[in-house]
Order: sequence, then structure tokens, then C-alpha cells
Amino acid sequence: MDKHFFVNLDEVEAAAQDYLTSSTYGYYAGYASDGVTHGKNRTAFNNIELLPRYMVDVSERDLSTEMMGQPMDMPVMVAPMAMMGLAHAEAECGIARACAEAGITMCMSTMSNTSIEDIVKVGANMWFQLYVHKDRGLSQHLVDRAEAAGFRALVLTVDVPTGGYRENVMRLPVNIPESMVLANLVEYWDREKHPDLFAYVNSQFDPSLTWKDFEKFVNSTNLPVLVKGILHPEDAKLAIEHGAAGIIVSNHGGRQLDTAPATINVLPCITEAVDGRVDVMMDGGVRRGEDIIKALAYGAKAVMVGRSIAFALAIGGQAGVTTALDILRKQYDTALMLSGVTSSRDVPRSLILE
Ligand code: FNR
Ligand code: LAC
Repeated sequence: MDKHFFVNLDEVEAAAQDYLTSSTYGYYAGYASDGVTHGKNRTAFNNIELLPRYMVDVSERDLSTEMMGQPMDMPVMVAPMAMMGLAHAEAECGIARACAEAGITMCMSTMSNTSIEDIVKVGANMWFQLYVHKDRGLSQHLVDRAEAAGFRALVLTVDVPTGGYRENVMRLPVNIPESMVLANLVEYWDREKHPDLFAYVNSQFDPSLTWKDFEKFVNSTNLPVLVKGILHPEDAKLAIEHGAAGIIVSNHGGRQLDTAPATINVLPCITEAVDGRVDVMMDGGVRRGEDIIKALAYGAKAVMVGRSIAFALAIGGQAGVTTALDILRKQYDTALMLSGVTSSRDVPRSLILE
């Protein structure tokens, strides 16, 4: 990281291109179809106006919060992302170490290059993201392993009945080094038989999944189960009816259904439908402290950040991720002070000009 001085996460992304092969950069930065949703995730944040209050004593702020009763030093988590080994040799462990240092939670993907059992050795607060496969036994085995290893929550992603239409990856397929494994699925991906990992994984995701299946997972584990990928308020209600302990409002960073709404635009309807019954989070385009404060004003307890963390990892491993998290913390703290807010647990809705 020494060569670089970053003041925002867009600069981190720009610099990361020098550290990634073009196919990996294309995969990480990529989006579905025309990238309408991907672009909107950012513009929607920017179109929301903050209405600050002044002459409030903001000399002391408390950035900390809790999700699912678990303390976090700031209302930011790392979103689950497949194959962080393509970014840096430290892979998911580099991210987990930076999260442990920053006092925040990491959600690890089913498709990670680090195993469930290895990542917990880092000592970060960990959640496990589950992609349900046609082989339900395999999926249940992952849940059991995560619980046994000490993960603190399960995140079931519902917005991938199939992979999105990713044109950049079609044009330039991801080049996966010989030595790279999907560490939690080693027995299931036979590279010889299925050289195109993404096509294979896509063929294994279960498109027949419904809330009934979700409920089975809820009943099969002691871990709280969150749902990731909710955009419709009715789906938020159904999720709760079927036992969800939390809702993550997400459009997968614009990587799934293009022209789906920006997440920050649907968040208020969802927090209204949820009505405080469970914790709500959101992700998609969170790049600045002002974005975090807007999500909290709309009723989310915390946000998740995806791509920027992958890019930061590419540049400097753990140290890179620490830099990115420091930037976000500083921006968020500044935004709190300038808005007249002193606690992450008390960001008023009236901060948003409606
Ligand atoms: C993802 N995302 C994702 N989500 C998930 O539930 N399981 C996964 O394995 C992955 N994999 C993945 C890989 C890469 C390279 C990216 C960029 C994203 C989606 C991710 O969790 C999150 O929803 C978005 O990345 C959030 O948007 P931003 O912050 O990237 O704009
Ligand atoms: C992606 C899948 C793996 O977004 O979730 O690339």
C-alpha cells in the first residue's frame, strides 16, 4: 500500500486494475446486461439529499452498533464474495484479519477459496453465506460445518436461481489458476470433468428453491438465518413468516436482474414492511460515509460493502482492506458530525429530505 495514498474507494478501484488480470477485474467489477441497476445503486444514493442539524454537541460519537445481537465497531460488514483468491494470495483470510482488527463482521461466500475451518482461526466474527445446491445434502453439510466451526449466522442468498447475464465474463472468461480450489466444495468440483467452473456452479444452483426449503434450513440449525437479496416488501414479509432472523436488501450489486431497483430506493418500503420485527441490512453501491448514514436513516442497522473490499485486497492484502475500512470509518464519522448525529443507533429519518 506504500506506493499509494487513497482518499476514497473509487481511487482504490482505479488502482486495483494494475493488480488484477483483466479477466479477474472484469469478473469483480462486472454487472448484468446493460449495468442499469449497477449504475443506479450509486446515482440513487447521490440523489438523496441529507438535511443536517447544527448546534448539536457532536464532540463525542459512538459509531458502534449491533446486528443479530452481535456487537460491531461500525455499521459496516464485508459482503460475501466468491473467489477472493483471485485478488491476492491472502484471499479471504486477508479480509477476515482486517475485519477482526476493525471490529466488524465478515460474511464468507460458499464459493470462497478458504475453508470454513481455516477462516475461523483468524478470530473475526464470521457469518456464512449459503448458495443452495441441487444436492441438498451438500448444502446441509455446509450449514453443519459452519455451525460447528463457530460461525455466528447463516445468510441464505435468494437472488441467484441462476447467474445473471454477465456479458463481460462471456467475452472474457475468468482465468482460474490450476492450483485454485473452491475450498468448501473440493469434493464436488472436478476440474477435469468441468473445466468451466462458472458454468458448472451455475448448473448446480437449485432454481426450484422456495420458502418451504428456506424453512427447512432454518429448522436445521441453531444459527440465526438471514435472507440476502430481498427487493420486494412482500418477500420481506414472507421471509419473516418462514423464520428469517434478518433481511439483507440487495440486488447483488447489479449483477443479477438488470433494471431491478437501486437498493437504497426500496429500503424504506422494506423497513416499513418489516416494522422492527427483525434486523435489516442493505448493500449495493455503498462507497461513502454519506451512503451509510442514508441507509441507517431509512432503518437499516448496517450496510455491507462488496467490490471495494475485493479491490482493496488486490492492492495490499489485509493492509489494503484495512485502508478501505479506515476510509469508510473516517467518512462515516465525518458525515455523522456534519449531520448533527452522535450515534449509529440513533440516526433519524428526518435527516433525509423527503
Ligand atoms: C458477489 N456477491 C455475492 N453474493 C453472494 O451472496 N454470494 C457470493 O458468492 C457473491 N459473490 C460475489 C462476487 C463478487 C466478485 C462480487 C462483486 C459480488 C454479491 C455481494 O455479496 C454484494 O451483494 C454486492 O457486491 C454489493 O454491491 P457492491 O458493494 O459491490 O456495490
Ligand atoms: C457472483 C456470484 C458468485 O456475483 O454470486 O459472481
